[in-house]
Amino acid sequence: TIYKASTTAPVNIAVVKYWGKRDPKLNLPTNSSLSVTLSQADLRTLTTATCSASYQGQEDSLILNGEPSDIKGARTQACLRELRAKRAALEAENPSLPKLSTLPLRIVSENNFPTAAGLASSAAGFAALVRAIADLYELPSSPTELSLIARQGSGSACRSLFGGYVAWRAGERDDGLDSKAVEVAPASHWPSMRALILVVSAAKKGVSSTSGMQQTVATSDLFKGRVANVVPAHMAAMEAAIKDRDFAKFAEVTMKDSNSFHACCADTYPPIYYMNDVSRAAVRAVQAINEAAGKTVAAYTFDAGPNAVIYYLEEDSAPVVGTFYNLLQSTDGWKDEAKSYSSTATQLDETTSTLLKEGVSRIIMTGVGEGPIKTDQH
Ligand code: DP6
Repeated sequence: TIYKASTTAPVNIAVVKYWGKRDPKLNLPTNSSLSVTLSQADLRTLTTATCSASYQGQEDSLILNGEPSDIKGARTQACLRELRAKRAALEAENPSLPKLSTLPLRIVSENNFPTAAGLASSAAGFAALVRAIADLYELPSSPTELSLIARQGSGSACRSLFGGYVAWRAGERDDGLDSKAVEVAPASHWPSMRALILVVSAAKKGVSSTSGMQQTVATSDLFKGRVANVVPAHMAAMEAAIKDRDFAKFAEVTMKDSNSFHACCADTYPPIYYMNDVSRAAVRAVQAINEAAGKTVAAYTFDAGPNAVIYYLEEDSAPVVGTFYNLLQSTDGWKDEAKSYSSTATQLDETTSTLLKEGVSRIIMTGVGEGPIKTDQH
């Protein structure tokens, strides 16, 4: 017998950023964070986990996008160890269950988007790994319980166990048992949220988020104020904005939190710069769109790289999508509907237009989506 489970898991993009660890080993953060889960039709990891007595004598294995990959890393091992322990406990309670916890695991995982796009694939990757093995082991664990495990793979992964609007509560305990993801609102609460991703090619590979955030914690004074005051205020305001479906507030907090995070990166010693001239052109474009609209219709946010993620509501597609489509229509990734908005573009200044035209290599049009989904694929 080969026991098998497959799942897909989504990417999420934070609107209040996780940046900083209070415990790098357990992956416990210095602050809470909040994200929007993006649609798996556009961005997802598909993972299948199998185990079998016929694998006995072999080691656990992992194939990522067709290539044999390292499963021995401390983060992956932490996830496997916890999942096996949960299965072993279940087997101890129900002696009739097959002893899957002692069998070698084979994990096969692939993304439906290019890893090179510089989109955080670790979040979807670890969420899918944990969900697939939990399903294989028939664990009764809730998404929040699994988030405690996925967190140890990659912090942001804990938020990808839910769809919609998701908070990762930092927690206070040293053992991390209160550092977990919870649903703030399902996707159906505010289904019109859209995201336009401008993929910006970076000249060289930047500082990884794992290393960058530790340098910030160690050297930035500005960061102390972010953790103590800025993030708590942003979390409260963001949760209220989501509950009230208040886009102007959502957008303001999203942009301010991105600014605060990148200011802390610049205050790191030596400084870290993730945004580049093209990223800053995207900021100016969003400002121009909002000014022309006479209200806030778009919000930018940037992670540990130059890509811009622009949140907007479906009903404001004309000014937002129209402006970027008008400028970047020859760039890959537009959906057909984008064409219909090109007559409602905001005119951008020459420098901003040129930087975006030359620097954006790909577009991803997506929106808020659901959490991990069981599948028969693979
Ligand atoms: C800027 O989750 O990739 O995207 O826990 O070390 O794996 P590790 O870090 P990771 O950091 C993500 C940082 C961020 C902000 C966010 O997603 O909240």
